[in-house]
Amino acid sequence: MPAKSAKRAAHRLPAHIAIVMDGNGRWAQQRHLPRLAGHRRGVDALKSVIQACIVKDIPVLTVFAFSSENWSRPKTEIKGLMNLIRVALRKEFDALHKQGIRLRFLGSRQGLEPGVCAVLDQAECATESNPGLVLNVCFNYGGRWDIVDAASRLAATGQAITESSMQAALSLAPCPDPDLLIRTGDEHRLSNFLLWQCAYSELYFSPLLWPDFDAAALDAALADYAARERRFGRTSAAAVAGPV
Ligand code: FPP
Repeated sequence: MPAKSAKRAAHRLPAHIAIVMDGNGRWAQQRHLPRLAGHRRGVDALKSVIQACIVKDIPVLTVFAFSSENWSRPKTEIKGLMNLIRVALRKEFDALHKQGIRLRFLGSRQGLEPGVCAVLDQAECATESNPGLVLNVCFNYGGRWDIVDAASRLAATGQAITESSMQAALSLAPCPDPDLLIRTGDEHRLSNFLLWQCAYSELYFSPLLWPDFDAAALDAALADYAARERRFGRTSAAAVAGPV
């Protein structure tokens, strides 16, 4: 086993963390600020969590930044979020690239302005061979869209639809499924995030609003995860070693 995976296994760390970054709007409202101020602080929280994942040698981080359903928000908020991803990428790109982070944007490009698509495509292309943390940003993403899109592409090419062909056709591939799914903001639902891929993910719900989530909050989630027994449908961890 490579040294990094051995260290991760010894500390019972996940190889892939997925996060629903919820609570930006409430964080802003509590401070009588526009909702966009919460999203801006959300970018800072994301930066801290990225750094914490790098320190811990967690290879994959996937975050939900804009859902297929977010189009029903007020136009000003949608415009603000589109602008925010452009501005944040422009500002942070060099630092992310220097750290060897590979950026991927999962979701439909349909409905996105050409300027936004161009920024996402450029960042993906420039970081494609980076060896470090894989940062999947789900943008204009929905789990149902992902499943339908994968199945349609398989059907169009005449391939059989099986669990493994679907797994390979989904937008997250070739990354493994998330081991740990964190949702902040005290809401306990998936909201159409990685529906297929979270079949066996451990779920962790934090009462913190996303802008308040930091490295210490991530440590608490990781400690909770490390104490869990993952059975994947089996009766107990002991059964893993024994005959099926
Ligand atoms: C959910 O909080 C959050 C979002 C819809 C946007 C998440 C975006 C960021 C954290 C910005 C970082 C993104 C990038 C990559 C630039 P909410 O608005 O639903 O909060 P509420 O439940 O309190 O209203």
